[in-house]
Amino acid sequence: MSMNLVREDFPLISNDTIDYLDSAATCQKPIAVVDSMSKFMLEQNSTVRRGVYDLAVKATQEFDNARSSIQKFINAKSSCEVIFTRGATEGLNMIAYTLCQALKGKAGVDATNGRSSKLKTNGKIKIAISEMEHHANIVPWQMQASLHDDIEIVIIPILDNGELDLDALKKILNDKELKVLAITHTSNVLGTVNPIEEISKLAHANGVIVVLDACQAIAHKALDVQKLDVDFMVFSAHKIYGPTGIGAVFAKEELLNELPPYHGGGDMIETVSFEKTTYTNLPNKFEAGTPAIVETIGFGAAIKYISKIGFDKIYEHEQKLLEMANQELNKFEKIKIIGQSRNKIGIVSFVFDDIEAFDIGTMLNQHKVAIRTGHHCAQPLMKRFGISACSRLSIGVYNNENDIAKFISALEKTIKMFR
Ligand code: ALA
Repeated sequence: MSMNLVREDFPLISNDTIDYLDSAATCQKPIAVVDSMSKFMLEQNSTVRRGVYDLAVKATQEFDNARSSIQKFINAKSSCEVIFTRGATEGLNMIAYTLCQALKGKAGVDATNGRSSKLKTNGKIKIAISEMEHHANIVPWQMQASLHDDIEIVIIPILDNGELDLDALKKILNDKELKVLAITHTSNVLGTVNPIEEISKLAHANGVIVVLDACQAIAHKALDVQKLDVDFMVFSAHKIYGPTGIGAVFAKEELLNELPPYHGGGDMIETVSFEKTTYTNLPNKFEAGTPAIVETIGFGAAIKYISKIGFDKIYEHEQKLLEMANQELNKFEKIKIIGQSRNKIGIVSFVFDDIEAFDIGTMLNQHKVAIRTGHHCAQPLMKRFGISACSRLSIGVYNNENDIAKFISALEKTIKMFR
């Protein structure tokens, strides 16, 4: 499929009423995704995993197909390694809670078929996160540290160009007390792509569990969980042209079997009595209650849609636009680009010495240009660069050179107004 045709699949983009450059916050949805959801609601709606009537069986098949599509997309070994959540934030909260319970030996014997989790560890538990993490990969770990005296968070610093300080990371990984490395694949502010394959190798050589936040990478690069060899990975559908309210956790099957459930309720049990409850198999053990069925169908359709375009084409197209945005922005006076990594996706964050990010965003809106301004849910990263906010443009499959040119022209007008 040609990249020019892609634009036609997104009515909100193809009608040219907005110059949408905020795909890192959320992507626009193609007709195929919306159609799959409305078709399901109008023609196939039923609960899943419960009814024996034809409609329910068909709905369950559709639901399971979405899980299989996601499994294949990330090359997980089995579909039971894909757990649906409300989004990446819920996924990271689930991992932080259940993993810390297991590491602390508090998983409960019932969680792991009558024995203590093999993950149980004695002594201090250090968890490393980086300075470029989104709040979603900071706060859940802090919440665990606040509950358990012997859990400590260690921070991996980043360099001035926005790349990870790999020497510092190697030292941190050598610490025998380090049990978990929770890190982003790609920064939502800097656009930096971290060398995850290399990092996983180093972490595993030291017996450290790797948790990957793949939110910003999932729509831009092929992510093969076996090649990356991560233990956990989270991502949201809405960052890959799917609906909001649905995301996925990938985890290695043997690890999921060692963790306690996160939510209790229907569908995650084997037997329930007032004396004792036993839990069911994967993936249901982690999916209590009626799932977000319609959103899951949309998630599956989004994966199909992106796979049809193909990551080679997407990468080439987005890198071209990234280069253009960088070149044009660098022509402005008193500008600083935050994040100059050699390996980036289509994200450019910037600040002006003399104009607030909020004012830039507000004025660009007058020109129908949509970018994100603020701290981008990354306050520690803002602090690292000595700023409280920045402006960020981010590129999606539907953007073209004209979008970048319109943004630059609107920015020129904005700057003139303020100076
Ligand atoms: N994490 C999203 C962003 O960076 C919301 O904008």
